[in-house]
Amino acid sequence: MSNLTFGIIKPDAVRAGNHGKIIAKVLANGFKIRGMKLIHQSLKDAEGFYAVHAERPFFGELTEFMSSGPCVVLALEKENAVPAWRELMGATNPAEAAEGTLRKEFATSIGENAVHGSDSDENAAIEIAYFFSKLELV
Ligand code: RTP
Ligand code: MG
Repeated sequence: MSNLTFGIIKPDAVRAGNHGKIIAKVLANGFKIRGMKLIHQSLKDAEGFYAVHAERPFFGELTEFMSSGPCVVLALEKENAVPAWRELMGATNPAEAAEGTLRKEFATSIGENAVHGSDSDENAAIEIAYFFSKLELV
């Protein structure tokens, strides 16, 4: 199990001004921030990032949403980082997210659900490399 994962504070959460609160919770939960920046993806960037979901019915909606405004991308370090970050995020659908999770507190719908997290060590490495240069990782 790797100690690195990749996270996004999605455009809905940045638009609502919740990114500071989310970053505070990331740190309070024992994650070290190894990379962090504010970006605004083009539709093409979002389509590249979510290429694995290209065949899903919500792909158009998802990529439009992810390119609809600035988001914060994060490279996070913690023991068992991938499951630890997904646990803090909570279920994809905020209606099913547990108390104390980021999606319970900040997500508004299954589509606009405040945060992203990698689903495997392999994808974490790919996703970190998609958004960060070597110089941007400390
Ligand atoms: P993420 O990749 O963003 O961390 O979320 P996840 O693993 O919990 O969920 P995943 O199945 O990978 O779906 C990716 C994102 O697509 C949007 N989605 N919309 N309208 C829908 O039914 C639907 N289902 C998924 C969500 O923004 C989800 O986070
Ligand atoms: Mg996913």
